[in-house]
Order: sequence, then structure tokens, then C-alpha cells
Amino acid sequence: MKAGLIGTGHYVPEKVLTNHDLEQMVDTSDEWIRTRTGIEERRIASDDMDTSDLAYEAAVGALNEAGLNGEDLDMILVATVTSDMGFPSVACQLQNRLGARQIPAMDVSAACAGFMYGVITAKQFVEAGVHQNILVIGVEKLSKITNWEDRNTAVLFGDGAGAAIVSNVSENRGILAHELGSDGTGIPYLHQTDEDVIYMNGREVFKFAVRKMADSSLNVVHQAGLTKDDVDYLIPHQANIRIMEAARENLEIPVEKMSKSVDRYGNTSAASIPIALSEDVKAGRIKEDDVVVLVGFGGGLTWGAVALKW
Ligand code: ACO
Repeated sequence: MKAGLIGTGHYVPEKVLTNHDLEQMVDTSDEWIRTRTGIEERRIASDDMDTSDLAYEAAVGALNEAGLNGEDLDMILVATVTSDMGFPSVACQLQNRLGARQIPAMDVSAACAGFMYGVITAKQFVEAGVHQNILVIGVEKLSKITNWEDRNTAVLFGDGAGAAIVSNVSENRGILAHELGSDGTGIPYLHQTDEDVIYMNGREVFKFAVRKMADSSLNVVHQAGLTKDDVDYLIPHQANIRIMEAARENLEIPVEKMSKSVDRYGNTSAASIPIALSEDVKAGRIKEDDVVVLVGFGGGLTWGAVALKW
């Protein structure tokens, strides 16, 4: 029996921050942001909504889609680098709010690749027969750690949450192959500073991301015993349209077969892949038996990919 995703959900805050709004805040232009990143607007959570509140909304959506209640959960994994507080974890906050039993709950820290880390960790527990239904959430309130005076980073990020339930699906469907990795030599290029804001060397991260997104997505396809031609849909981490396009071109997938929400939400870090997945499922862009590749990279540096049959 293979583990797969049986329900998805997502939540984005109502407040929209456009590129034109950012023109009033830092020395930038709508044209620069669009052409360099593909981003047009992003969502920003209000002061009274913290990371766990965003996560809760996405979790309820995923439980509903899977036809489950909080007490049906056997484990909660929350991928985030912007938890409400150092401890307790967002996962523990959700255990209580969702009415779950006294199950294991923990946060996973792998920046933008966090959801991939969460799903692949959940898969191990499910396929080993240890747990049945695992809630995996990718959530960020990046606006808390964004330096709104730094044009190099302020234009890139947004807030949001996405969730999925990992459970056994069948012998022929579910997660076919996976890859995870890390390279701590990349810490100087992307990290949270002593002032608790994001620092990024965009050019170095760009080079790494283009290489890893292309290699990792192809690796999982080959590991699954498939070829590029078998891939029906690609969900790349929504960091920058040029990085996403590089992964798509490497897999030789037509543009309409790649998920795209970076224009509306910017880079929501760990939330970007599950938000995209949830939107694609609800819009019917992913159909039963489709081979879907999810691939992400992030601060660490980290990366992760899965090939799955929906
Ligand atoms: N508006 C106008 N000009 C800007 C802005 C801005 N918002 N930001 C930077 N610039 C300037 C730079 O200062 C630079 O000027 P200079 O040449 O005088 O120094 C110029 O634009 C060009 O900069 P480049 O770095 O060459 O621009 P590039 O084409 O690489 O695009 C970008 C920059 C968009 C940041 C790109 O490098 C990128 O997307 N990198 C990857 C970022 C990413 O995906 N990070 C994900 C990790 S997030 C996480 O894990 C939490």
C-alpha cells in the first residue's frame, strides 16, 4: 500500500499588497518586479492573525475535503519558519484547536522546502503502518520577518497556508518516489539575521534553485520508473516565475501543465506548494491517475521533490 494525499485545503489572508503599493514603500517598480519575478500582488495577514490562525483555516479545509474530523488524526506536522512563538509549536496549538486526540505533533523547519519534508516524513509513518491519517501543513506569516525597507526581499514574499492529509491510498496510486536534501554551505546566501529579518543573496539563491529544481524533479520521475513524457502536471515552489520556468522546460512540460500562483501570492515559502496543490485540485487541473511532480527548494539550503499518482 502506498501513501498519498487524500484531502487538501488552503487559506490566504484578505489583504492584498500590490506592486504599486510597494512602489510607495521602497525604490522599486511594478515593471521590475513583474519581469524579474512574475509577482503582481501578495497577501498580508492582519496583526490579529498569527501563523497558527492561518494554519488552522487550511487544516479545516483539508479535513473537510478528506471527510475526516480532528479526532481521526494520528499525527500533525507543520512546516514553518514563522511560528507564533519559539515554543510550543504551531502543531501543538493545532492539536488542541482541531480537537485531536493526544497524538504526536511537531513543527518541521526546512524553509520553502518544508512541505516536501513534511509530506515525505508523513509517508514513512503511514507506509510503516505506525499512523493512518497525518495532517501536513505548510504555513508562513513571512510579513513578520520581512524587512520592509529592503527592496531586495520585501517585494518577494507573502503570507498563507496550505494543508494535506497523508494516508494510505492504494498499491497503484500515491507517492511513487521522493528526494530530500540539504546543503548547509548555502547558509550565508539565505537566512534570518540577528535582527530577525530575511537576508538573501538573490543571485546565488537563483543559481542554486534553477539547478536543484531541474535535477530534483527529474530524479523523482526516473526513480519512479517513468520518463518526462509520463508527467501530467508540475507544481514547483512558487518563488520566481523564471526559476519555475527552468524546471518546466527541463521536464518539457507545456505551460498549461504547470501550476502558477506566484503572480497572485508571491513566495509564501512552505505554504506555496500546498496552496497551489489545493487550488489545482479544486479547479480540476489535477485529475485521477495523473502523474504529478511537486518540487521545492529553500533556505538551508534545502530541497525536496515527490512524484505521485493522483
Ligand atoms: N526593485 C528594483 N531594483 C531592484 C529590486 C527591486 N525590488 N531588488 C533588487 N534590485 C536591483 C539590485 O539592487 C540590482 O542592482 P545593482 O545591479 O545596481 O546591484 C539589480 O536590481 C539587479 O539585481 P539582480 O540580482 O541581478 O536581479 P535578478 O535578475 O537576479 O533578480 C531576484 C533578483 C528576483 C531576487 C532573483 O535573484 C531571485 O529570484 N532569486 C531567488 C530568490 C528566491 O527564490 N528565494 C527563495 C528563497 S525564500 C526562503 O527560503 C524563505
